[in-house]
Amino acid sequence: MMSQASNPIGVIGTGTMGAGIAQTAAAAGWKVKLFDTNAESVTQAIQSVGKRFDRLVEKERITEDQATSCKANLIAAKDLEELHDCDLIVEAIIEEFDIKTNVLKQLGEIASGAVLATNTSSLSVSDLGEACGFADRVVGLHFFNPAPIMPLVEVVKGEGTSQQAVQRAILLAEAWGKKVVQASDTPGFIVNRVARPYYLESWRIVEDGFATVNEVDEALQLLGEFRMGPFMLTDLIGQDINVATTNSVWVRLDRPSRLAPSPLQASLVEHHHLGKKSGRGAYAHDGEGNATPAIILERNELEISDELTNAINAFCLEATRTSGSQLAKYIFSRVLISIINEALWAKSEGVASEQDIDTAMKLGTNYPKGPFEWAVQVGMDKVLELLDEFNKTVNDGRFTAPPSTTLATS
Ligand SMILES: NC(=O)c1ccc[n+]([C@@H]2O[C@H](COP(=O)([O-])OP(=O)(O)OC[C@H]3O[C@@H](n4cnc5c(N)ncnc54)[C@H](O)[C@@H]3O)[C@@H](O)[C@H]2O)c1
Repeated sequence: MMSQASNPIGVIGTGTMGAGIAQTAAAAGWKVKLFDTNAESVTQAIQSVGKRFDRLVEKERITEDQATSCKANLIAAKDLEELHDCDLIVEAIIEEFDIKTNVLKQLGEIASGAVLATNTSSLSVSDLGEACGFADRVVGLHFFNPAPIMPLVEVVKGEGTSQQAVQRAILLAEAWGKKVVQASDTPGFIVNRVARPYYLESWRIVEDGFATVNEVDEALQLLGEFRMGPFMLTDLIGQDINVATTNSVWVRLDRPSRLAPSPLQASLVEHHHLGKKSGRGAYAHDGEGNATPAIILERNELEISDELTNAINAFCLEATRTSGSQLAKYIFSRVLISIINEALWAKSEGVASEQDIDTAMKLGTNYPKGPFEWAVQVGMDKVLELLDEFNKTVNDGRFTAPPSTTLATS
């Protein structure tokens, strides 16, 4: 496969992600050919990316000359044939297997030297590669929204992807200023999988009646130093989007109890309480930046065994710098231990290395620490002890650690 850095990059699908990816590559000096079945979308993407470059000039982050050359790097393509000379082409079109396969097949024929990258969040890279007939050249290049700002890219090797294609994708993403982690072709890759318990275990705490949404958010921000609590965050993401990701990851992983969807969150979506965009989700949003808890359930007093209390206290002593109420410590440790456990399962299933999982969670979701860093800080004995004690409080075994859990970094 002949590849040259002087060759242009292609971006197919110029919606939210395509426009952001095009901006990222153009800002790094690459010519980018943009194509979308909706020609208006290409025009809009080039205009809005151009405005973003103008704003960077206003903020004195780049010079006017740099903005001019960045803008000149964006080239509208009228048809796919114009992408024949691309080094790498990223498809960021609608998340539909057959439509993506069809586009990748055409691209494989038109651009015989190009790496065919897919920005899919939930489809199998191996299946896309096999179905389009160019498995050796199809690689996952998973950007995060907003692509120009989020520093992380997950590179995913499909079963048939050649090392050459993977290396080319990594080199390019790094040259565009991204931090690359490598993930196996498994549901949710790293971030969308390991982040699930942050939301799910929080929903379960509210479903149990132990705490309100704002109490959970506050405990995780205070003790965990997470930038935003799970309920405010899912209101921003959109409860519907968050539920769709959970369902997709859960089903494709064969429905582990750890990642089972929350009935309460599902009912919110059924009632069109989607979060900030619909004015109401976990919170009611007044449109002026004020949010009040919108889920009030009957309260159940938290009653836990002495053994669980001791395990929580021992865990918190190492995992947080801040003290809080017994309820806050319970919330923080129950959610964080679930995240650590998911990271342990992901590693044990070969999703990624401990280091890449930590990097992905810090850069892809802004976690203050990676789950393995946290586990090492606390000590694996205390992690396993806490999992064991939480497991005694549930009947679905979801706090079970993977077999023979040891840490490479401890
Ligand atoms: N939005 C996110 O936060 C996010 C994050 C990571 C990955 N992704 C993934 O990125 C991809 C795009 O998501 P998005 O949010 O940018 O979608 P979007 O709806 O904003 O944009 C999709 C674009 O693709 C175009 N399109 C549809 N079919 C096409 C075809 N056959 N050929 C060319 N263009 C076509 C549409 O006209 C539209 O402009 C999806 O695979 C999604 O799963 C999204």
